[in-house]
Amino acid sequence: MMLIKISKRRREKFQLKILNWYKKNKRDLPWRKTTDPYKVLVSEIMLQQTQVDRVIPKYHAWIKKFPDFKALAKASTKDLLEYWSGLGYNSRAIRLQKLAQVVMKDHNGKLPEDEDILIKLPGIGPYTAKSVLIFALNKNVGTVDTNIRRIFIYEFNLDESMKDQDLLEFAHEITPKNKSRDFHNALMDYGATFLTSRKTGIKPISKQSTFKESKRMYRGKIIKLLLQKKRTLTELQKETKKEKNYIQGIVSDLKQEGLVKTKGNLVFIP
Ligand code: ADE
Repeated sequence: MMLIKISKRRREKFQLKILNWYKKNKRDLPWRKTTDPYKVLVSEIMLQQTQVDRVIPKYHAWIKKFPDFKALAKASTKDLLEYWSGLGYNSRAIRLQKLAQVVMKDHNGKLPEDEDILIKLPGIGPYTAKSVLIFALNKNVGTVDTNIRRIFIYEFNLDESMKDQDLLEFAHEITPKNKSRDFHNALMDYGATFLTSRKTGIKPISKQSTFKESKRMYRGKIIKLLLQKKRTLTELQKETKKEKNYIQGIVSDLKQEGLVKTKGNLVFIP
């Protein structure tokens, strides 16, 4: 653990700078018009590894189709994947539904507000749990994403090799009391539209591997084909121009994760 220490004066100056910048420059994003934990959660899961511009129309359509945990819990896999298409990483949609089912079954349809309980729910990692506490509940916690990390490193001259845990501790310290929602929205906008990676030369820690010719690409292709109609393995193999073993492996993974089912030699989305 390496403590990042700054004076109270410097901390308050930074908070003011960010919040004032936000007043003049804030983006009008749909998930900021709500504090409904369900909607905040949907937006956060969509925003993981997908850009804001791509998420906006998908978020609107999703919320219209599945307005709450109850609606999502009983949706068909086909509807889920159809409404998720274009966002990538389809298994996120399936996990989101699992989460909705657990919320309905074990928590009376209401998302728990305790971080330790949130983290144990399907599809919720430490970052998502904190996001819900911040954007839905305005709780006094801090979080760090790629943008926020870059801002801290740049503004406070930190080493680029700074560990996530240390940055998280720092985020917590620097978040103004009872303004965590505004402050984090402000940081995200400041990082995404002003203090960019290009401007600072600070590179994101890459979490996304190359898409082209990847397993992820073929998973996406197969889901797309199956959303049109049921297909046999041979048909999938012809459409994707890949070896049978490779396609069989992917179908087997998709089946395991609950995205597809098989009946005889047909593969389909239930
Ligand atoms: N990326 C992750 N969460 C976000 C949010 N709430 N607003 C904008 N970008 C985000």
